[in-house]
Amino acid sequence: MFENRLERILKLKTPAYYYDFDVLESTLQDLLKNSQILNSIICYSLKANSNDKILKKIREHNLGADCVSLGELQKAKELDFKPIVFAGVGKTDEELEFAIINEIFSINVESIQELKIILELTNKLNKKANISLRINPNIDPLTHKYITTGLEENKFGINFNELNEAINIIKSNKESLNFVGLHFHMGSQILDFNVFKNYCLKINETIRYFEERDIRIKYVNVGGGLGIDYYNPDKIPDFKNYFYTFYRFLDHINRVIIFELGRSIVGQCGTYLVKVLYVKDSLNQNKKKLIVDGGMNHLIRPALYEAFHLIQNLSKYNQKPTHLYDVYGPICESTDCFGKNIPLPLTERGDILAIRSAGAYGESMTSNYNLKGYPNIFFSNEI
Ligand code: LLP
Repeated sequence: MFENRLERILKLKTPAYYYDFDVLESTLQDLLKNSQILNSIICYSLKANSNDKILKKIREHNLGADCVSLGELQKAKELDFKPIVFAGVGKTDEELEFAIINEIFSINVESIQELKIILELTNKLNKKANISLRINPNIDPLTHKYITTGLEENKFGINFNELNEAINIIKSNKESLNFVGLHFHMGSQILDFNVFKNYCLKINETIRYFEERDIRIKYVNVGGGLGIDYYNPDKIPDFKNYFYTFYRFLDHINRVIIFELGRSIVGQCGTYLVKVLYVKDSLNQNKKKLIVDGGMNHLIRPALYEAFHLIQNLSKYNQKPTHLYDVYGPICESTDCFGKNIPLPLTERGDILAIRSAGAYGESMTSNYNLKGYPNIFFSNEI
């Protein structure tokens, strides 16, 4: 990823996100090639990374958009993403009105109360709303507990015991509600394909439940969640197996399957670049602490989820690791740590470290904590 442009990358002003467009391009091509096995629509999940240039690149490949706020809806419309799906457990009236007025392809409704509010708004605006029901599949995706969404205890989606009420509302309000289909999502960073298989079986059951009650399910939105290999940042996600699992186990004949992928599309193309400011001694003679110029303010995943991101010393790119370091950001929090016992070559003040697989939920979760400011942004085709 770095070989061709290493000299130029080492001169970039840190802290910075660096995006490799060749990686993004080959990821998108692999995604589109493998998704053809199904009659599918891929909606890119803007929350993973909503950088304008990344979005434009993804848009060039004719993906739809998965949005969760007015800001994301406006951005997706401005860039002409089609179709747009709109989820979120706390949609405001303003956001719902925008979605109804702009005839967004599907508002994915997350509660009976939201469904009733949408009905009221369709009457007020004198416009029909396109809706799907987001159903909580109550499945454990075997991922980090903070990024699990599809368990009954999570706040997302409508529970199975509320389906009849939802069905009644939909059936008796056909002049206001255009029923698009069903929506599910169980969590993120899922790497166990057996989990996706069981998920498909649960979805099939739910489809049957609706069709037995005379509601035809044309669109099935299975959400996102495909994980990436944080230990091998040069590896593109396993799209082939992913789509094949849905092909094999999901009741997909005569239906359109919507996927809302985020991390798997943009995760591996992004790197967070930081510069070593200080090398501090520890009481333990064998280990030093590296203090770098960017931290959890720009890449919060390690601090928030104890997430692993591979770290490399780009200034010593061809040297073998000989020392162990703990790598800390500059923020006034002890959790502002990118990793402990990280094997690196002898590392000095001024060295540039690459924190890999930072394309998803990196820049999009950046904050201005400590008023440290926002990261610089660079693209491989512009440096
Ligand atoms: N659809 C829905 C309804 C979602 O809630 C999400 C992510 C996605 C699609 C996209 O999922 P993906 O393909 O990216 O796994 N900040 C966390 C991840 C939060 C995911 C939230 N929902 C992290 O850094 O790991």
